Amino acid sequence: MKQIGMGIVGAGFVGPHHVDAVRRLGYVDIVAVAGSSEESGQQKARLLGARKGYGSYQALIDDPDVHVVHNATPNYLHAAVTSAALAKGKHVVSDKPLAMTAAESKRLVDEASRAGVVTAVTFNYRGNPLVQHARQQIASGAIGTPRFVHGHYLQDWLLKDTDYSWRLDPAKGGQSSALGDIGSHWCDLAQHLTGLRIIEVLGDITTCLPKRKKPHGSREAFAAAATGEVDVVDITVEDLACVLVRFDSGAKGIFSVGQVCAGHKNDLVIEVCGATTSIAWRQEHQNELWFGHRDRANETLQKDPSLLTNEALPYAHLPGGHQEAWADAFCNVMRDIYDVVAAGPPFRPLSPVVGTFEDGYRANCIVEAILASARAGGVWTAVSY
Ligand SMILES: NC(=O)c1ccc[n+]([C@@H]2O[C@H](COP(=O)([O-])OP(=O)(O)OC[C@H]3O[C@@H](n4cnc5c(N)ncnc54)[C@H](O)[C@@H]3O)[C@@H](O)[C@H]2O)c1
Repeated sequence: MKQIGMGIVGAGFVGPHHVDAVRRLGYVDIVAVAGSSEESGQQKARLLGARKGYGSYQALIDDPDVHVVHNATPNYLHAAVTSAALAKGKHVVSDKPLAMTAAESKRLVDEASRAGVVTAVTFNYRGNPLVQHARQQIASGAIGTPRFVHGHYLQDWLLKDTDYSWRLDPAKGGQSSALGDIGSHWCDLAQHLTGLRIIEVLGDITTCLPKRKKPHGSREAFAAAATGEVDVVDITVEDLACVLVRFDSGAKGIFSVGQVCAGHKNDLVIEVCGATTSIAWRQEHQNELWFGHRDRANETLQKDPSLLTNEALPYAHLPGGHQEAWADAFCNVMRDIYDVVAAGPPFRPLSPVVGTFEDGYRANCIVEAILASARAGGVWTAVSY
């Protein structure tokens, strides 16, 4: 099989997971890493086993050995890096959010369509085998018509005022912190599982810590709390949000997101209540899927390839009892993307498991509608796509 060359721009927390995931595919050449400086690019390339290190994303994009550009930079660089890669005719795998605003994302959707290359956004929770099993169950009518979708996505890594990240600076992270960063995953999953679209929202947002201690110098995401020199800075973006949603079918929903909820590490929970059965998945126990019944005992399905639908089967790689996890789901998404790249032009559509640039654009639209709703005092607001 022809080797496909990948290059990663931004190798902080999530960038190395992009590299690990594509390396597992077996036919991807890890060509280059671009960092925030020449020194950082070289050092990260050594650490990740890439052949070359660059101090500028344009140099990586211009490298003829790089066919697929992965964008794992802080949010404010997403549009510039992706746009430059598309202009050079490179395939792009962008981490979420696709861009800082819906308008920017829409521009990238159009540029991608003109470039005629393969493009994707990493809504990676879709790659979990039990998420796919649940999606198939819902699509087949096994739980009846979805009436109510609820859950949360809670974390605690910004609990203290000594916790700081570029995600809290609107110039670098965008107008939203919790909603854009993790609420976007929840909304994507709700729509992916049900096949429904969120059309109206009512949001209530809070900044629990309006002042934080920002360390001098830069730190990568999820690094330990500040200990050295700090500046006390005002925080304007939300670290907690409660949202009511309406879907295009008439189904209702509610979710909360927070980065200041002690004890919740990466606690993404989603439940779809259908006319006959409820189905729930919890990221921190991702090898289990709960089915709630009225007239018989509830069930918990432990992930086991022999019990999955045929469509979910390709996303499970270990026998029952062998736990599959976050990185495996991430790799599943990459496998579906690279299958299409490897097959060559004309590129067939991506599997529905892969988030598209349109999905990335829709995520921005939903977050913007929630912010508008909250700023208006919590009024129902249509999501304008
Ligand atoms: N899909 C997921 O589950 C998931 C998880 C975490 C992060 N993310 C997304 O990935 C992106 C990165 O997040 P992170 O947590 O890895 O952040 P991070 O701060 O840990 O890493 C960002 C990296 O980009 C580098 N960088 C900064 N400017 C650069 C430049 N001009 N050129 C090249 N590199 C540059 C930084 O030095 C750092 O190493 C964000 O957009 C975030 O939303 C997605």
